[in-house]
Amino acid sequence: MSFVNIIENKRYGRELTDEEIKIFVKGVTDGSIPDYQISALLMAIVLNGMSDREMTTLTLEMADSGERADLSFCEGIPVDKHSTGGVGDKVTPLLLPLLATFGVTSVKLSGRGLGFTGGTIDKFESIKGFNTAVSAEDFPAMIKETGMVLSAQTPNLAPADKVLYALRDVTGTVDSIPLIASSIMSKKIAGGAKALVLDVTCGSGAFMKTVDRAEELAKAMISIGKLAGIKTVVVISDMDQPLGRTCGNTLEMQEVMETLTGKGAEDVVKVVCTIAVNSVKLAGKTGGLNDKELYGECVRRLTGGEALKKYFELLASQGGQLSAGGPVYVELPHEAMRVTAPVDGYIKSIRADAVGNLSVLLGAGRQTKDDIIDHGAGICFYAKVGTYVKRGDVICSLCHGIDRNVSEDLLFDVMEKIYDCYEFSDEPVEERDPIIMVLD
Ligand code: URA
Repeated sequence: MSFVNIIENKRYGRELTDEEIKIFVKGVTDGSIPDYQISALLMAIVLNGMSDREMTTLTLEMADSGERADLSFCEGIPVDKHSTGGVGDKVTPLLLPLLATFGVTSVKLSGRGLGFTGGTIDKFESIKGFNTAVSAEDFPAMIKETGMVLSAQTPNLAPADKVLYALRDVTGTVDSIPLIASSIMSKKIAGGAKALVLDVTCGSGAFMKTVDRAEELAKAMISIGKLAGIKTVVVISDMDQPLGRTCGNTLEMQEVMETLTGKGAEDVVKVVCTIAVNSVKLAGKTGGLNDKELYGECVRRLTGGEALKKYFELLASQGGQLSAGGPVYVELPHEAMRVTAPVDGYIKSIRADAVGNLSVLLGAGRQTKDDIIDHGAGICFYAKVGTYVKRGDVICSLCHGIDRNVSEDLLFDVMEKIYDCYEFSDEPVEERDPIIMVLD
């Protein structure tokens, strides 16, 4: 069959057969289908969608385009977690140690920052010596020792997705529910997940801008999970403002320490503990606690020192340097400029995507694939949506690595642009609930 027929079938809104999808994924993986034909089919999928069956076949074929991890060495049910991306999202470094206190094991394969969203691997690399390239052969020993592994995804995990993702990025075909759902779920299946909690972020700092779209994506991934035999729960969380008090790599890892010592932001605690409750339930480790009791227990362990102990174990087992005061960072942040409120009023909104982009401009993320990031760069938020501020109060500050030379021009440019991210109101504004809904 000619590949042009497959493109035309989707173009005319027909369902693709399993055979046609197999041909597509095989050709993407072995490079036999040229980029322009792949891109044409991707655009036809964006415009005409996919049925649940097509989406599931696409997911499973992509999962099988490379190696599949075998996590059978884990005792019990290891729980995987994935976020669709956000700004200030430091959930993973908090969740893994918290779950370990319940005896829930995690083999977490994470990525680097993408666009305005930060990446967990970059965050862990702000700790001196921490090894993010763990070989799969070492997973069993590490799981036995601490119950946790945090590693970068290997190139052979769902390689078809890598090709498709790179093309989608440059052909305006990222924003498609079947393509996003199959991209995420193929990597989770290839990574050996048996139980999965997905954090679907929603709002200005997320791929899904509205609750309806987030719910649609959640349902698509739950349906793939069901067909692929993975117990899947989705937490839809708010990303209409950055999560917590910081964005940037060292800054976020310092905020992780604040959270683990009981001085963290409430929204971070709520998102982490909501995901933890669902993970512990999937792993069957509730110890007879009901949801409310379990949530309280998660908050207690997260903020009262138990998770901190596990966090240090995770860092030590992967070579991260620890001093008496906690982790040793590769670059410390220097607060170079404080930004003050231009008016009296309630903060009505903080555009998370724009703030994320400004953090990248300061050096916290990459503008091209080969950029070297400044681990000390980022933004601290002193006031969030709903807070009343007076003209001249500090609302946020701009940071860069303490040993970096960052031009005043750049700092002033970012400061001017950051004002466009904030909206103020004379009327009281409700604080945002970081959890929108939980679906299973
Ligand atoms: N994250 C992914 O892994 N894939 C997508 O398509 C979007 C977000």
